[in-house]
Amino acid sequence: MKHSYNFFSLFILLLLHLFFIPSTCVNSINDSDFGSSFTPSVNYLIDCGSSLKTQLRDGRIFKSDPDTTSFLSTTEDIQISVDSINLANLSYSPALPLYETARVFTEDTTYSFYIPKPGRLWIRLYFFPLPNPSYNLSSFVFSVHTDRFVLLHEFSQSNNDSLVFKEYLLNVSDHRFSLKFKPRKSSSAFINAIEIVSAPDILLSDSAIQVSPPLGKFNGLMNSALQVSYRINVGGPTITPGNDTLSRTWESDDPYNIFPQGSKSVSVSNKRIIYPQTSDFIVTPLIAPSPIYATCVEMEDPQVMQPNFNLSWMVNVEKKYSYLIRMHFCDIVSRRLDQLYFNVYINGIESVSALDLSYETKALATAYYMDFMIGSSNITNGSILIQVGPTNHKQDISNAILNGIEVMKMSNSADSLDGFFSVDGEYKGPNLRTKLMKLVAIIGFSLAVISLLLLGVMYVRWLRRPLCREESRNFFSWLLPLHSKCNISCSIYSNKYDSPKSKHAGGHSIHHSPRRGSKRFFHFIELQRATGNFDEKKVLGVGGFGKVYLGTLDDGRRVAIKRGSGSSGQGMNEFITELNMLSKLRHRHLVSLVGFCDENSEMVLVYDYVSNGPFRSHLYGSNFSPLSWEKRLEICIGAARGLHYLHTGASQSIIHRDVKTTNILLDENYVAKVADFGLSKTIHDKAQISTAVKGSFGYLDPQYFKSQQLTQKSDVYSFGVVLFEVLCARPVICSTLPMEQANLADWVMKQHKFGMLHKAIDPRIANNINPESYKVFVQLGVKCLSELSVDRPSMGDVLWNLEHAYQLQIASPHDGNSLSNAFQNENESDINNDNSHGVASVVPDRIGSDSLVFSQMDNFQGR
Ligand SMILES: *[C@@H]1O[C@H](CO)[C@@H](O)[C@H](O)[C@H]1NC(C)=O
Ligand SMILES: *[C@@H]1O[C@H](CO)[C@@H](O)[C@H](O)[C@H]1NC(C)=O
Ligand SMILES: *[C@@H]1O[C@H](CO)[C@@H](O)[C@H](O)[C@H]1NC(C)=O
Ligand SMILES: *[C@@H]1O[C@H](CO)[C@@H](O)[C@H](O)[C@H]1NC(C)=O
Ligand SMILES: *[C@@H]1O[C@H](CO)[C@@H](O)[C@H](O)[C@H]1NC(C)=O
Ligand SMILES: *[C@@H]1O[C@H](CO)[C@@H](O)[C@H](O)[C@H]1NC(C)=O
Ligand SMILES: *[C@@H]1O[C@H](CO)[C@@H](O)[C@H](O)[C@H]1NC(C)=O
Ligand SMILES: *[C@@H]1O[C@H](CO)[C@@H](O)[C@H](O)[C@H]1NC(C)=O
Ligand SMILES: *[C@@H]1O[C@H](CO)[C@@H](O)[C@H](O)[C@H]1NC(C)=O
Repeated sequence: MKHSYNFFSLFILLLLHLFFIPSTCVNSINDSDFGSSFTPSVNYLIDCGSSLKTQLRDGRIFKSDPDTTSFLSTTEDIQISVDSINLANLSYSPALPLYETARVFTEDTTYSFYIPKPGRLWIRLYFFPLPNPSYNLSSFVFSVHTDRFVLLHEFSQSNNDSLVFKEYLLNVSDHRFSLKFKPRKSSSAFINAIEIVSAPDILLSDSAIQVSPPLGKFNGLMNSALQVSYRINVGGPTITPGNDTLSRTWESDDPYNIFPQGSKSVSVSNKRIIYPQTSDFIVTPLIAPSPIYATCVEMEDPQVMQPNFNLSWMVNVEKKYSYLIRMHFCDIVSRRLDQLYFNVYINGIESVSALDLSYETKALATAYYMDFMIGSSNITNGSILIQVGPTNHKQDISNAILNGIEVMKMSNSADSLDGFFSVDGEYKGPNLRTKLMKLVAIIGFSLAVISLLLLGVMYVRWLRRPLCREESRNFFSWLLPLHSKCNISCSIYSNKYDSPKSKHAGGHSIHHSPRRGSKRFFHFIELQRATGNFDEKKVLGVGGFGKVYLGTLDDGRRVAIKRGSGSSGQGMNEFITELNMLSKLRHRHLVSLVGFCDENSEMVLVYDYVSNGPFRSHLYGSNFSPLSWEKRLEICIGAARGLHYLHTGASQSIIHRDVKTTNILLDENYVAKVADFGLSKTIHDKAQISTAVKGSFGYLDPQYFKSQQLTQKSDVYSFGVVLFEVLCARPVICSTLPMEQANLADWVMKQHKFGMLHKAIDPRIANNINPESYKVFVQLGVKCLSELSVDRPSMGDVLWNLEHAYQLQIASPHDGNSLSNAFQNENESDINNDNSHGVASVVPDRIGSDSLVFSQMDNFQGR
């Protein structure tokens, strides 16, 4: 649609419209909202200061100054231009030609446009202070208004030689739209280019989800002016106006993704994207073009880790404004429906709980979006944090995705997008004076209350001081934060998941931790220094309790620093348990604690850095070269020694409860170190305790699961799973495999029963395993996985058998291809087995019955 109205024809049209044929203008343009192409009814593109029209690479043609003087209220004609070379070293923009010319206004000037069909309009303004001998554009200070809204207030580009692009979305209800440039006194205004283009009605409705607890519905988007702050194509490249249905620019998300280690980009062909056209929810390519929906970010390695973290993006925004946030979703990662559920958080507020795209769209690869409004009171940091993360439900795949983000600033009570002055120059913001006085009063009052409280607390602690004397070497330790202290922390330990009996056990262990003082107490600031203020780049891993960072202490020692996430009861319990366990234990095959910090309600544990990381990464999923069979046996022996020590070495037996390959760490010499004691329990030897079931999927002892009776044999079962993970080098739960293979423990038992287990051996080492060693190893593993705990060996027996397997291996390591022969009779050893409880008899139907139990256990704490 070409618009070359001069002022006269504009006037005639206006008259016609108002008095005679009010609907012709509107109907003459069919802007079909439901298609992918949209012909705007309003399309004014002006390259200000240019004497010739300008065509951009995307095909849009901007009119010259002479063609557009009819829109202007002024007769002054100051044009500024530069050669394109002078702009060459600025950052590239596809709109670069528009910045090469500018128009200067020394007095108030208005552009007036005729709007045939009122509705939403894009207003796009281009600014760049071109160098000029007679006018110093950098020194100009001016405001830009519409009839009702302030777009820019006292704007200037001094000390800023970047290209400035401002984009607004306004609802215009009149047939006339004005854009006013108002220079400050004795200053001038300038503009390089203007776009006034209508936006389809479908683009934005009047309502959004209000993000402030409790969630509500916000109505009135039509009534506010919006300024586009960010438009981000998550997981994909920059989309330039030429590739967008509405000439928008979408940036790549790289600068905003604050946890890139956990993110994985996914993309599919644009053609796969489906736009739903059902009557209740319409998404068309006008909402966002298919390249936005065809790329996304999902959680790194979701099938293997049972990940427990959020994907996070942070954008900086201005305080004191509300923002509209649109999030685009399209499930291009799932293989079938009903697999993906995740939560959406905005600034830490749960905005959607368990978003189920399958339910919303009824199909995969289908475009979907949601609008949120976050009020200024919830933007305290000058930033908006957008997160998606798995729900805590027992789903078989934990994952979360995001395809696109749009963030728009909303006009405030003064109808302004820049400050608190309305179009007539009146100040309409919060009253500064009364606000200041209120602030002073509040600060004074809270100071008084805080000092009183402090005095009270110090007095009480001083009274209690003798109770703790033996435990704390530091005379002033009664001043330390609450939960660093001996018997007071017992009360913190109580947890709704723990039965009273186990609570007693936990409290007991705290009371008997005489060497707590031998661990160093770190100040939080030291740990901040050691980790570059918990730099996300230093994250080594993410666990159930929080993130683990690599840190370097002031003395140069490298440590692993585990920082608790949040103050949830669960995290606190794990922190205290782990601190108590590790304070008592020292063993070559247990990870050793250097110290801890619990200042500022931060819970941080500091460990020796174990440089080769988790055993699992050396088995599969990473690029490390495969470990030999001997090495794997050595590592298993080390881990078994660590566990054996836990079960029998200390005065009370300790059950680890979360034995898995990610909790076996390898130091620089590949010496195994058992880690993560957050779920450990102390019990009296030979006893069993009743407790809520905790552990990791795939490693969990079925008997413990059913009876909730915890014994050392539960660790033995998990260790059995580890043994097969070591042999087969695959994840214990792998939902991408067929159902019967998904669970490693069930599958190997079945394979073993049918004498097919040798086919599952890690092919990289299969030919270097001594068959005798293999036989001992597999028999041991199978026994560890016995259904009944009494049939399982003790950790001491496990250790002995592993050493036996190791001896057999090193006696004749290279046995070539004899392995497959050796396992024609894989099963015979079991038939001759003197153990009266045959393993095979309990194998059938385990998968079915177990998965049933899984879904019915309410209090299971998956990790
Ligand atoms: C506009 O387009 C729609 C669908 O393409 C069509 O049904 C309608 O008749 C058109 N209206 C006009 C005025 O051309
Ligand atoms: C471009 O870069 C050169 C050298 O870096 C600098 O001297 C010149 O001022 C720059 N030009 C502009 C327009 O910024
Ligand atoms: C233009 O104005 C800016 C800001 O007032 C000032 O820093 C700069 O030196 C001026 N440039 C010229 C060429 O006068
Ligand atoms: C220049 O302005 C742009 C856009 O407003 C802003 O992002 C940038 O930080 C500014 N640069 C300086 C040096 O002020
Ligand atoms: C916004 O637009 C709608 C129609 O698109 C109109 O009914 C309404 O009056 C407008 N509101 C304002 C405040 O301009
Ligand atoms: C944008 O469109 C051009 C052709 O019009 C195409 O070559 C290019 O790949 C497109 N880019 C994206 C990101 O889709
Ligand atoms: C503000 O920042 C602090 C530290 O940078 C962070 O702990 C807090 O969660 C942030 N608050 C919001 C609402 O983002
Ligand atoms: C994800 O973020 C939300 C809000 O910041 C937080 O409440 C939640 O615990 C986080 N989830 C994980 C697994 O870290
Ligand atoms: C969000 O703002 C509301 C008031 O609008 C306030 O009650 C609530 O505490 C805020 N939430 C957060 C997390 O800041």
